[in-house]
Amino acid sequence: MAFHTGGEASRRSPDVLIIGAGAAGLMAAFTAARRGRRVVVLDHAPEVGRKILISGGGRCNFTNTEMRAERFISQNRHFARSALSRYTPSQFLELLAAHKIPWHEKKLGQLFCDNSARDIVQMLLAECAAAHVTILTDVRITEVTKPQDFRVQTSAGTFTSKALVLATGGLSIPKLGATSFSYNIARYFGLSVISPEPALVPLVFGKPEESWVQSLAGVSLPVRASCGKTGFDEALLFTHRGLSGPALLQISSYWEANQPVRIDLLPGQDMTAHLAALKKAKSQMKGPAALSRWLPHRLAQELARQSAPEERPVVEWSDRTLRALGERIHRLDLHPTGTEGFAKAEVTRGGVDTRKLSSKTMEAQTVPNLYVIGEAVDVTGWLGGYNFHWAWASGYVAGEAL
Ligand code: FDA
Repeated sequence: MAFHTGGEASRRSPDVLIIGAGAAGLMAAFTAARRGRRVVVLDHAPEVGRKILISGGGRCNFTNTEMRAERFISQNRHFARSALSRYTPSQFLELLAAHKIPWHEKKLGQLFCDNSARDIVQMLLAECAAAHVTILTDVRITEVTKPQDFRVQTSAGTFTSKALVLATGGLSIPKLGATSFSYNIARYFGLSVISPEPALVPLVFGKPEESWVQSLAGVSLPVRASCGKTGFDEALLFTHRGLSGPALLQISSYWEANQPVRIDLLPGQDMTAHLAALKKAKSQMKGPAALSRWLPHRLAQELARQSAPEERPVVEWSDRTLRALGERIHRLDLHPTGTEGFAKAEVTRGGVDTRKLSSKTMEAQTVPNLYVIGEAVDVTGWLGGYNFHWAWASGYVAGEAL
């Protein structure tokens, strides 16, 4: 796809060249173009905004009403604050209103399109068209240098530009064309990159946990999943590979190798007290039946098999057994051996180090006119619209500065 205005010469040497026509790149493009900049966006994919199209189950969870810098992970936890304060969820909603795009709130402040994620892509393209942005897809970038201005060699010829914006996102979903392009170019210009790791990603286990976790594939329940001091109250899903579900995806972004993940299978309740009450009532229920009163049956069966005298009624359980089981249910420590990797990760944690980037403009402090935006930067949001909002906000502040 290509749409553009102006002559060939102006297209070859725009004021601003943006690599990556995703959420951040397109936002930066029309923001800068509205201010009179001649902007060209290059992307190697055949269509723009592919991650937007597959996001939020096809409905794109485009922002969150609870936007706060603390909900982003970065080596510099204050870095996102400036951009988030200058581009808020309300501003994005105004844009949707101008394009008459209907949306709704699902839960936890998460906002989704009523119809389709395609509405968002069409809106971004309409804004780009109105501001006379040139977008070229199916373009392979072969070299980036900076003799004076930036010089970008591509399968569609050579482009020169005073300002270059790296907006190629992270490494998740390689089959959609994710590459390390922004990291490589940032390194080439002397910026450092925090090791990119899969985030918002299911976790996998080794033996012996793997077998019983996998045997529960399909079981889902509300839990609190935590790593150290960080915890999330959401659903957990057992899968035929390991663990997933929102609580687990959220905690995966904080998980470090060799660290246990703690699961409270009955948050906000006291399982020991529940079991003690059953014992006091002289319950003849056996382990699986007793635990099934509060937990999904298959999980109850498995926990009873692991830690309770299955064959004996609760009334015969010692107080020690009862307490040990209660504790295990509230503090189940699991030991992931890894993640399902970039193929299944919703985002990438890490990326271009923020220490040499301006938090106000996203410009590299050591390389004037080089900007890095969106997921390529070491800023990773929680699940729930935070990552798109970072793309909009970082793209917007760069677009205002370009
Ligand atoms: P993005 O990845 O969107 O765009 C990068 C662009 O650069 C792409 O068009 C790509 O083709 C191009 N590119 C890459 N390498 C290139 C190269 N070498 N040369 C030229 N072009 C290149 N977030 C959220 O907030 N709510 C949600 O609902 C979801 N849902 C979701 C579902 C799934 C399955 C995934 C994988 C991800 C999400 N996300 C999400 C995360 C969200 O999609 C992501 O954070 C943003 O798309 C990041 O926007 P960027 O513009 O930074 O990168």
